[in-house]
Formats: sequence, structure tokens, C-alpha cells
Amino acid sequence: MSKISILGIEGTAWNLSAAIVDEDDVIAETTATYMPKTGGIHPREAAQHHANHITEVVRETLKKGKSEISAVAFSQGPGLGPCLRTVATAARALALSLDVPLIGVNHCIAHIEVGRWKTPAKDPVTLYVSGANSQVLAYRKGHYRVFGETLDIGIGNALDKFARSVGLPHPGGPKVEELARTATKYIPLPYTVKGMDFSFSGLTTAAQESVKKYTLPDVCHSFQETAFAMLVEVTERAVAHTGKREVLLAGGVGANSRLREMLKIMCEDRGIEFYVPEKRFMGDNGAMIAYLGLLMYKSGYRTPISESKVNPNFRPDDAVVTWR
Ligand code: ATP
Ligand code: FE2
Repeated sequence: MSKISILGIEGTAWNLSAAIVDEDDVIAETTATYMPKTGGIHPREAAQHHANHITEVVRETLKKGKSEISAVAFSQGPGLGPCLRTVATAARALALSLDVPLIGVNHCIAHIEVGRWKTPAKDPVTLYVSGANSQVLAYRKGHYRVFGETLDIGIGNALDKFARSVGLPHPGGPKVEELARTATKYIPLPYTVKGMDFSFSGLTTAAQESVKKYTLPDVCHSFQETAFAMLVEVTERAVAHTGKREVLLAGGVGANSRLREMLKIMCEDRGIEFYVPEKRFMGDNGAMIAYLGLLMYKSGYRTPISESKVNPNFRPDDAVVTWR
């Protein structure tokens, strides 16, 4: 019997990526990244970028993969509406032309599942930190529950927004990390954890104000220390509450070595495991969509065309987890 192979397409924001996976590994992956000429992501421009590149990205992936496709998976949400719609339209057309089922997946859950696939993590508390998203999630009774999340903007967007306002190019996260390395002191900035949720816009505004009085490296360092301490605090409390023995880091901001260090220290203190997937599986990628599609496909899940509408606010806790 031949293996199940799923083609997955990701395009919720700036990365357009298609991949084919089977149960063992990623067979092929092709990516085209939208780079804004100025400022941050313009949703319509990003969608136009995806429309311009989707044919070559899918064709290239099918050519490299050389396998028979069992189903087409796509990011149904959350994400930028125009981008989601472009990718969904392509996924529907492809599923119809290949005469295979369509599977709409939740983008946040795909980050978790690829981490469970590509690290030894089995049942972790996941800290998912990207441009638009910042959430602490863990599995319980048929759902990935959101234990805490941002009340306003994602940590990545907060870093990017701050960076842009001080004249650094997009994406700002890596630049802030680099500058923070040369800091000499810590400046107190607003630390906002409400219950299990956190917020970053007050911190961003205060940091923007602080550069008038303090050096940029000191502000970058203090921004990171404050924001990451908030994320680690909520992650630790989710660990304490659930009794889980593993923490998994996901999303593009997970590239940050100071955030990793802080999470590692917390996990070591508690005597639990800390897992970080390879970089290619941390930011948005087609492989994670294909892999979650594969799990859903095997558990009998299908998305009829009539239910394949995208949902820019698709919450991970709304998805029923049938594969665990
Ligand atoms: P999503 O659709 O899940 O919100 P995204 O489009 O924001 O994803 P990702 O690749 O997951 O894409 O994350 C991009 C973000 O990660 C950007 O905000 C960028 O500044 C941030 N980032 C990347 N590297 C670092 C780093 N070393 N330190 C901090 N932030 C980083
Ligand atoms: Fe993401």
C-alpha cells in the first residue's frame, strides 16, 4: 500500500508556502516570501503577491514531490482576509482538479502539531509567538485550549512597530534582538499581565517614548526583558495549572535566543522539558499545514467546498481535535 501524501498550502500573512508531506517526513516544499517595499505588511499587496506566485509554488512542489496526492490542505484561518481567500481559492481549484478531498486547517494548531512531529514533545504547553499571534495553548478533552493570549497586538507586531518607529527596517524583531546585546542597563517599562492574558501596546508606546531619554540598545533590551517575562510568566502558570511536563516554542518570534534562554531557565527550574523545533518549522511554513492535514485526513476529517469559507478570526479552541 502506498503512503498517504498530503499537499498543504500556507498563506495567512507574508509567507506563501506549499509542501507535500507523508507520515515520515517532508517530501517537498516551495516558498515565496512577500517583502513590503515600505512599512509593514499591506494585506492587499500580500494577497496580490500570493496570487502572482501560487501557480509556480504549487507546480514546483508537485514536480519535486513526484507523489500521488491524497488530499489538499490549506490554512482556513486565522490570518489576513485577502491572503486567506487567495490561498483558499487555489486550494479548492487544486482539490477539484486532482479529484481529492479538501481539508481546511487551523493555522495555530498546525504550529503545535508540526512541533509535536519534529521534536520529542508529546503533550506540551505551547507558547505560540508570531507577528499577529501570541498564545499559550495546551490540549485538554478534545480541544487545544487557549490558557492565555494577547489582549491587543501580537508580540512580533509589537517589536516590528517599535522598530519601525525608530527607523529600523522590517521585520524589526531580529534587529531589536541584535541591538539589545549591546545594552548596559534595564529601564522599567509597563508589564501588563491580566489574569492569564497579556498586552503589548502600552509597552510599545512607552518604549517609543523612552528612546528620547535612553539609548536604543537599552530600550531594545528592556522591551525584550519586559515582554518575554510576561510570556514566560503565563506559560509557567499554564504549566502549573495543567501539570504538563513539556513546553514547546512555536512561531517566528521563537527565533529569539533571549526568549529561548528565559523559557529554558523556567523549565529547568521546574524540572520539565523544553523543546524548540528546527527554524524551518517555527515560522509559517507549508509543511505544518500539510502535516496537520495528514492527521485530520487519517482521522476521517474532510472539508466540503460549501464549508471551506475562510475565517480570519478562526480560534484554535473552536476546532475539534479528532486525531488525538
Ligand atoms: P502569523 O501569521 O502566525 O502571525 P507571521 O506572518 O507573523 O505569522 P512568523 O514567521 O511566524 O510570521 O513571525 C514573524 C515575526 O517574527 C515578525 O514579527 C518578526 O519580527 C519576528 N521575529 C523574527 N525573528 C525574530 C527574533 N530573532 N526576535 C524577535 N522576533 C523575531
Ligand atoms: Fe503563524
